[in-house]
Amino acid sequence: MPRGSDEGSMMINRPDLPGQGSAPPSPESPPPPGGRSPLARALRWYALALLPAAMGLLGLTLLRRIAPADASLAFLAIAAATAAISLASLIDLSHLLRFVQDLSQGISAPAPEMRTEGVAAAAAFALTQMRREMRRALAAAEQSLHSHEGVFDALPDAVVILDDEHRVTRANMAARELFGRSLTGRDVSSLVRHPPILAALDALGENGRELEYALPIPVERRFIVSIRPLPGKIADEAAILISFHDITAIRRMEQMRADFVANASHELRTPLSSLIGFIDTLRGSAHDDAEARERFLAIMSEQAARMARLIEDLLSLSRIELNEHTRPSRAVDVRRAIVSVIEGLEPKARARDVAVGLEAPDDLPAARGEPDELTQVFQNLIENAVKYTLPGTSVTVAVSALERGPTGMPRDAQGPVLAVAVRDHGEGIAQEHIPRLTERFYRVDSARSRKMGGTGLGLAIVKHVVNRHRGVLAIDSTVGQGSVFTVYLPIHAAAETPAPPSV
Ligand SMILES: Nc1ncnc2c1ncn2[C@@H]1O[C@H](COP(=O)(O)OP(=O)(O)OP(=O)(O)O)[C@@H](O)[C@H]1O
Ligand SMILES: [Mg+2]
Repeated sequence: MPRGSDEGSMMINRPDLPGQGSAPPSPESPPPPGGRSPLARALRWYALALLPAAMGLLGLTLLRRIAPADASLAFLAIAAATAAISLASLIDLSHLLRFVQDLSQGISAPAPEMRTEGVAAAAAFALTQMRREMRRALAAAEQSLHSHEGVFDALPDAVVILDDEHRVTRANMAARELFGRSLTGRDVSSLVRHPPILAALDALGENGRELEYALPIPVERRFIVSIRPLPGKIADEAAILISFHDITAIRRMEQMRADFVANASHELRTPLSSLIGFIDTLRGSAHDDAEARERFLAIMSEQAARMARLIEDLLSLSRIELNEHTRPSRAVDVRRAIVSVIEGLEPKARARDVAVGLEAPDDLPAARGEPDELTQVFQNLIENAVKYTLPGTSVTVAVSALERGPTGMPRDAQGPVLAVAVRDHGEGIAQEHIPRLTERFYRVDSARSRKMGGTGLGLAIVKHVVNRHRGVLAIDSTVGQGSVFTVYLPIHAAAETPAPPSV
């Protein structure tokens, strides 16, 4: 391979980068002495090199020191010798010149083929090396640019960069998802119409600002908007960075916590004020009324029991939540647990003239779980069914083993399951209430539920226990016909003896 020839064929042609591609020369750069071929230029230099010899021989001929024929012969000899010595170098020099000119237009210029090993070839080789380094640096710069773009796009927060006239110059993926596809060039006020943000942009100091912002549609989302001037300038302009950090989930949690405290206090305060009222009455007007005293004490005992149940439910909920991340692994005899729950609810069911039946095959496999917690699940579901079914109707608990659970089973619980379906014949639940039934203190008819001694925590406990067991709770209800609450629980894999539940 001749020295200085191009060893790679990587072509980076970015007309947008200075000094690349076939961009026309800038008005300040001198016009290239173009048009002439290397050979023509070499011949010109060659002729110039012969000029002194020609002038000398002409002078000698005119002074008659040498015959014209000898002078011609001498000139030819000199021309031939000069040609032999310098033509190849001149052609190389001319190639080198063209290469340098081409390089000034862009780094994709092809390297020249040199004929000699002289200075021109060495210079061409050095220039080729330099061009290779430039290409490498350019490729690295492009890669770094791409990876920065990748990082910018992967940021979970929406980020937009504005120029000093508050027009968007860059927006990452999250920003495009939030505000729409084509953002570049748009004024920020067409994205965010929140006057405090626009005012903060107008009066932006060195330290930036932070504000809370609610985006009302399609579903309300809340953001902490951070507005900061970027250090330095981008393309000669001051730039401003605005990021939108989504705090919807945090605000919702805060609201839930506040609601929970308010609900729990309210639920406790009601029986407590009733207790205080009766104590006052017993001390005062009913002090000597034996019959009233007995009646009031019965009510007080009921209210105290209600408070105790509420506290017990709250404690049990927080205990379950504490362990929710650890999956229980014992084998639970579901049939036995259900039978003991039904037996325990017998007086309640009899009082409402409700017959509770169990349909379960004898060879049911064990469920994987915590016996006491699963008993609590069956207790809540069957008690609800007995409570909310119409008097004189029946409640059925049907247990079956299935190859797979419904969609929504967690990934680590995709095998066979036990389905426990509790069916009642009550008034049913309207569709809009169903997704909210497992929220703490949520009751379709609060007054009625409270009258029945309910705290509104039963289904919340069921949901958390089922989650801990990697199961699913499905609620199906038809107004006027009744409801079916089905719990799907992963089957215990090992052939272990099921643990009896402690009721
Ligand atoms: N089988 C059912 N039929 C109709 N409505 C039901 C049924 N089960 C639950 N609900 C509705 O769901 C609400 C929440 O049930 P949940 O078991 O959480 O609370 P509760 O029964 O009122 O009180 P407790 O904490 O004592 O269980 C109930 O108040 C009731 O409105
Ligand atoms: Mg209940």
